[in-house]
Amino acid sequence: MNKNLWYKNAVFYQISVRSFKDSNGDGRGDLRGILEKLDYLQTLGVNCIWLMPIYPSPLNDDGYDIADYYKIDEAYGSLDDLKELIKSAHEHNIRIVMDLVLNHTSDAHPWFQQSRSSKDSPYRDYYVWSDSNEKYKDARIIFVDTETSNWAWDEKAKQYYWHRFYSSQPDLNFDNPKVQEEMLSVARFWLDLGIDGFRADAVPYLFEREGTNCENLPETHAYLKKLRKFIDDNYPGRILLCEANQWPEDVRPYFGDGDEFNMGFHFPVMPRIYMALKKENFIDIKEIMQRTPPIPENCQWCTFLRNHDELTLEMVTPEERKWMWEQYAPDPRMKSNLGIRRRLAPLLDNHRRKIELANSLLFTLPGSPIIYYGDEIGMGENLDLPDRNGVRTPMQWDNSPNAGFTSGKTTSEFVKGELSYEYVNVASQMNDPDSLFNSMKRMIAVRRKHDAFGSSSMEWIDTGNSAVAVYIREYEDDTMLILNNLSGSVQTLKLPAEYQKSYIDLFAGDSHIFNEELTLQPYAYLWLQMEK
Ligand code: NOJ
Repeated sequence: MNKNLWYKNAVFYQISVRSFKDSNGDGRGDLRGILEKLDYLQTLGVNCIWLMPIYPSPLNDDGYDIADYYKIDEAYGSLDDLKELIKSAHEHNIRIVMDLVLNHTSDAHPWFQQSRSSKDSPYRDYYVWSDSNEKYKDARIIFVDTETSNWAWDEKAKQYYWHRFYSSQPDLNFDNPKVQEEMLSVARFWLDLGIDGFRADAVPYLFEREGTNCENLPETHAYLKKLRKFIDDNYPGRILLCEANQWPEDVRPYFGDGDEFNMGFHFPVMPRIYMALKKENFIDIKEIMQRTPPIPENCQWCTFLRNHDELTLEMVTPEERKWMWEQYAPDPRMKSNLGIRRRLAPLLDNHRRKIELANSLLFTLPGSPIIYYGDEIGMGENLDLPDRNGVRTPMQWDNSPNAGFTSGKTTSEFVKGELSYEYVNVASQMNDPDSLFNSMKRMIAVRRKHDAFGSSSMEWIDTGNSAVAVYIREYEDDTMLILNNLSGSVQTLKLPAEYQKSYIDLFAGDSHIFNEELTLQPYAYLWLQMEK
């Protein structure tokens, strides 16, 4: 495979820098902390990390409110620390992408401060101002728990400004060519430092047009293509990963003709994995995969089970959303906007087999998987913390005071109860061959050995048993047959005649002929390679 297509077969790992590892005892995670843990990440087997925002920020939205695009918040370290981290990560065969927040800045950003100060400011047109708050009425509100309008009145400017997220995050005005240029400069700055690409935040919302919902507009795609061309021309092999929480047919245009994003998160498949586990039926996953249009050869989906936000339920019907809340958010504190602010392990009742099964789906469905830090050991959540902070608690390295996260006094609260660091931590799991960590490590190793998992091929096999998701993944002459028992009971099935062949079990290493009735234990999964 062309080495510039590395992302097609990579395993990603998402890090909240603030929460991962503190190297200097100030109680906050930092870049040097990650540096100390590269061996750990290499042992787990991931080969690209996504760093959540490290820019200076008032932290109203945990760093997605940027006050300076060209600096690193001192709490996280310096530009030299980042350079060293990139260098060392590359020596560990790990790439690093970071957040690029195009759509908005913090209201503390000097651009906004100048913009609001006078109509004559050269920065006035960096943002979207209006005398009326009646424009763009068809645009939905995203943070429904806190915002009542996408317009906010600014006393200083004596006008309204447009914002899709918190009112402290004014939207940049991409109709202004200077804004477009600024953001290319920002990208250039970090690419010159050696970063391997960007997870581009909130891209559907760059432009506003009357009479539309102000999402996925042609102007937005045109600009993103410019950004991609700039990267390809100057930094081949670096990538753009698209955060567009949209239906597959609406994400599809973000790949363009292979000339827009290299990767895009597959949002809608995620809640359907949880639906499948509750319903003990694969049909929702199958339907969404069949609704997913093909993407260009040089593109890849990015699949995930959880991330730093709420488990979003935007890409389900209102009935399904209600059902998901009933099933997975019994405590009202678990609800957040249109989602559920919980971690993977507690969502799945800390049931080891269910957690592994969910990961088996993650690793074998089309796309490159991303693991949210801490989910490889089954960390819990802290519902007492506001907003989405309950799923961004410090990484649980060991059972010493402060979880081995910091030698100082932590500024963030830990998880409490049965999933706290006393019981769930890296040190104990690395030593235990039967731990979740070691199962994850095995899955990642197998996944990375076979290009079939990174290919676009997927064929569903009908066995007449709707509780077992069975499919073929294929690349050249390497064919995988995957079976996932979504149910809490033993399932039997018989493969169709054409698949009754000899396979190697990729975990046990032995080979079997599957021509008889096959039995799967509750939540069991089988990854089989067809013998040639
Ligand atoms: C998406 C990010 O994932 C989320 O954390 C953030 O609040 C919004 N974009 C706004 O930047």
